[in-house]
Amino acid sequence: MNKKFAVPRGTSDILPDSIPLWEALESKARKVCKSYGYREIRTPIFEDIDLFKRSLGQTSDVVNKQLLELASGKQEAGGLALRPEGTAAIVRSYIENSLDGKESLSKLFYLGSMFRGERPQKGRLRQFHQIGVEAIGPNSTCGYLDAEMMALAMHLLKELGVQDPQLKINSLGSKEDKANIAAWLRGRMAEHKNDLCEDCQSRFERNVFRVLDCKKESCRKLTAQVVKNLPLSVQSQQYFDQVRAALTSIGVAFEVAPHLVRGLDYYTHTVFEITAEGLGSQDAVGAGGRYDGLVHELGGNEKIDYGAMGFALGIERILLAQDAEHAQSVQSSLDVFVIAMKEEYQPQAFLLLQQLRQSGISANMSFSPGSMKSQMGRANKANARFALILGEEEMKNNTVALKDMSTSQQEIVAQENIVSRIKN
Ligand code: HAM
Repeated sequence: MNKKFAVPRGTSDILPDSIPLWEALESKARKVCKSYGYREIRTPIFEDIDLFKRSLGQTSDVVNKQLLELASGKQEAGGLALRPEGTAAIVRSYIENSLDGKESLSKLFYLGSMFRGERPQKGRLRQFHQIGVEAIGPNSTCGYLDAEMMALAMHLLKELGVQDPQLKINSLGSKEDKANIAAWLRGRMAEHKNDLCEDCQSRFERNVFRVLDCKKESCRKLTAQVVKNLPLSVQSQQYFDQVRAALTSIGVAFEVAPHLVRGLDYYTHTVFEITAEGLGSQDAVGAGGRYDGLVHELGGNEKIDYGAMGFALGIERILLAQDAEHAQSVQSSLDVFVIAMKEEYQPQAFLLLQQLRQSGISANMSFSPGSMKSQMGRANKANARFALILGEEEMKNNTVALKDMSTSQQEIVAQENIVSRIKN
């Protein structure tokens, strides 16, 4: 026997039975994003590898361990990598297409696959999907925008059936604050450095913020003792106060988490994470924050003061966290299932089938007709609204028997009137 192939580790097939769930999720997500004034953008699934290195930071795990480089891209300067997230590409596109010349604030959203060479486990995949939202524009560092983003993320999760999502927020301060806070953190932790885990000892040198993020109990205990709050400048503290006041004013509940720092380098000021029950150790269903410096970092006009804020939700994690009722409520359906009671009626059934489809009615039939019972079984399985039956009488009289599958009521309809009857 020839070798069978399996789906690559950390990826999965989304089979037809699951597609209605994905379609419903995607269409609800689009509707909610549009209702906040965001417009969809689509960018390639691979980009210049240096775009990710420069945006996400050389010390981030995503760049260090998880970038999936394309071998064929190596001949080109810089090489190519599959996108591990959406933000860097959106900023690249914002600059390249001069969106700042076209609108004062670009409010964008995207849906699509992301790729990270992670060690797969529940909720952690190598190919996964995100709903991402970004707002970028000159002079757009504004507490209302941060609050709108977090409100939108929470609204999306609620609409998508995630129960009781919890919003945690923090501020990393401005770019200047971050440099000062890094020095302050090193000072606070220096004498305990040897008590940190091996990873954190290296984080201490490379990106000390990440020590606060460590999941190991011993590091958590230690950092809880030595770091109560990050020391923000007066302006950054005022900005964070504005964000919290704006959130409170629209009734979005949140908790301040002083150790929330996020794994990607581009964040400044507000950062947030949303967790949900039922996800195990990978409990972040979404995350985001402000990244005011990234437009300049990627070559945007130095004379303009850009602000930017965004987030991404993990679709697979949303599906894991959806309440059972929500997950079951979506099923695919069909308008009409056509049934030929004898093989010789098939040509007429096939003709009617095509007429229905061309009139915008979804229709299907079985090309290997079995008994009436088995064909009705197929109509039921397809969740058809009507069965259209061609028997001996109907063939003789150019009619069909139209059965309403929910009431089981049946009526005889002339073949020439079938489209208008169904549309009514
Ligand atoms: P992130 O925290 O890396 O942020 O990912 C956002 C969400 O994507 C996570 O909370 C999680 O739900 C999902 N996710 C991430 N990695 C995986 C994985 N390996 N398997 C399954 N799901 C995963 C970003 O990607 C930023 N671009 C968010 C952002 C937008 N910040 C500003 N704008």
